Amino acid sequence: FMPDQTFAPVFKDHVELFDFAGAVVEPVIKEIDAQWLALEKDGHEHFMLKEIYEQRAVIHKSIRLYRSMGTALWQQLGIDPEEIKTLKKIIFVACGTSAHAGSIAEFFFEELCGMRAETKLASEFRYRPLFSDSDVLYVAISQSGETADTLEAIRFLKEHNQRVVVLTNVASSTMVRESDGFLLTHAGPEVAVASTKAFSTQVAALLWLAYRFAFERGLLSYADFEIAQDDILVAAEMLETALEDTKHTIIEELAPKYAQYEKAIFLGRHSGIPFAQEAALKLKEIAYVFAQAFPAGELKHGPLALIDQQTPVFLFSHPDPVMYQKLLASAQEIKARKGKILAFLFEGQDELSALVDDRLVFPLGSVHSSIIVMTGVMQLLMYTLARLRGCEIDKPRNLAKSVTVE
Ligand code: M6R
Repeated sequence: FMPDQTFAPVFKDHVELFDFAGAVVEPVIKEIDAQWLALEKDGHEHFMLKEIYEQRAVIHKSIRLYRSMGTALWQQLGIDPEEIKTLKKIIFVACGTSAHAGSIAEFFFEELCGMRAETKLASEFRYRPLFSDSDVLYVAISQSGETADTLEAIRFLKEHNQRVVVLTNVASSTMVRESDGFLLTHAGPEVAVASTKAFSTQVAALLWLAYRFAFERGLLSYADFEIAQDDILVAAEMLETALEDTKHTIIEELAPKYAQYEKAIFLGRHSGIPFAQEAALKLKEIAYVFAQAFPAGELKHGPLALIDQQTPVFLFSHPDPVMYQKLLASAQEIKARKGKILAFLFEGQDELSALVDDRLVFPLGSVHSSIIVMTGVMQLLMYTLARLRGCEIDKPRNLAKSVTVE
């Protein structure tokens, strides 16, 4: 690891390390898994596509490893399980896609664990007052474990004597070294700049953690905890099946129809709001389309004025019947203004299906894991739109995989 403020001439068989005054610094050498060095696309046109198709396997791997951890989980997180019982709040700190995973997980922790939950953007975190409450757990989320904004937020928390745990995909990352504890997503190396499998694995990991906390807090029996863990595995299976079931419709029908638009609106409710934000981010970064996500309930407070024939709406339905009715009402408002809607909806949501222009239909699973089920298809749609628009998908213009500058 290169400490800050050092430089290193690299030779064929050794490295020398110096500080800026020219003094020799003793390097800390750690061997890493060689799989990170030999990555292939395995016949896929892009790494992003390969990574979309790896999601079932990496979610399964992660959940199986968590299941086998037992009490080692608490040592790794650096938390006494007794503390979980009294914890009042969990605050996620992250950027971009990882922040969206945190915003989705807010619903898991609020509804399953009866805890307040919030997500803070790491880039803004240090510029607001920090209220140091003892019954709060900070969780930084970062695929790379190196994002400068998130790392600085962790350092800020440490300066203020706050405990922080990191959820990351890279065991050897700076964030793991600087946090009080960690949980790994076992998504494997993610090469495409646009995050796909790291995102769904973060969501699955956070859902699993919420169930684990709920069990620890006496809100879930052991039998129900077992069923809940199986449900995450089933959701990952459903993600893969949904990809197979919809890929022809996406490639042959939907993507050619929607690739021409230069702007798009994304709508959701409840956990579907951050999911819509994530979908909009995917479209922006890889297809260079101006995409804006709104909570569907906000539509009539302004964004409804944007509805026209040139601005399609990607609407993400919700398995909860109340949320579904609200989303149906939003769809009716859009159709009354002759807007065009492509809806992600669930089996049995027939009224919405009949109303919209195009639809992708998903099996009705549990409320919390349904986001995982929709993820692969959402990413494949955005990927296919970008591909038809001739964009350079794995390395979008102006972006880097790991954002190590603030
Ligand atoms: O490595 P991190 O998860 O900390 O990265 C945070 C963001 O830079 C990252 O999620 C970014 O938004 C993705 N490229 C989006 O696909």
